[in-house]
Amino acid sequence: MRGMYAVAAAALLFGVAACSSSKPAPAAAASGSEPAFRLTGTIKEIMDSVVDPSADVLWDSVSTTINRQGTTEKQPRTDEEWKMVRRSAVALVEATNLLVMEGRKVAPPGDKSENPDIELGPEQMQKLLDADRASWVKYAHGLHDAAAGALKAIDEKNIQGLMDSGETIDNACENCHKHYWYPDEKPVS
Ligand code: HEC
Repeated sequence: MRGMYAVAAAALLFGVAACSSSKPAPAAAASGSEPAFRLTGTIKEIMDSVVDPSADVLWDSVSTTINRQGTTEKQPRTDEEWKMVRRSAVALVEATNLLVMEGRKVAPPGDKSENPDIELGPEQMQKLLDADRASWVKYAHGLHDAAAGALKAIDEKNIQGLMDSGETIDNACENCHKHYWYPDEKPVS
């Protein structure tokens, strides 16, 4: 490690672009030894605590209910209602950064999948993820960009845009889940 820093420092001294060094510095605080990030939750917990509830708020924010009483159009109307949806959009956008933090584990040690017939076990998912981080990051970015679309629609108070982004978000969830979580799932015929 120490050697790598020395090389990077030397490169800077001689005016070589810092990005020419092949690997980014690990998530260590600039000042010294202690890592800046403290990874507490697992990917599974981030899904359950941040990603899923935030997406639910966005998906539930616009709906049409038709029953005997007539048609009810649900959508954010007041500033306060728009603010509520916006909070969830921000949480979802930024949760994607939590997902790609180096060293984040898929699930707590000893965790088992609930539907082993169709789901990979946590250690299998971890292997997939570690073997090809670029793909993991690509899927997380897919969700980032989808959720950023919702944020933009919210800032424009664009109901149709918010609904459309709901579908894009749903696809981003599915794309990643199909790759890591239940790749063996067969379409229902
Ligand atoms: C970058 C990949 C990725 C994206 C994007 C993603 N997920 Fe996940 N998700 C996972 C993985 C991997 C698991 C399996 C974790 C486990 O069970 O150990 C998971 C599990 C879950 C779970 C189960 C959590 C639990 O406690 O069992 C829920 C719910 C979930 N995701 C919701 C979502 C929703 C909703 C979205 C989109 C808004 C989404 N995920 C987007 C990778 C992703």
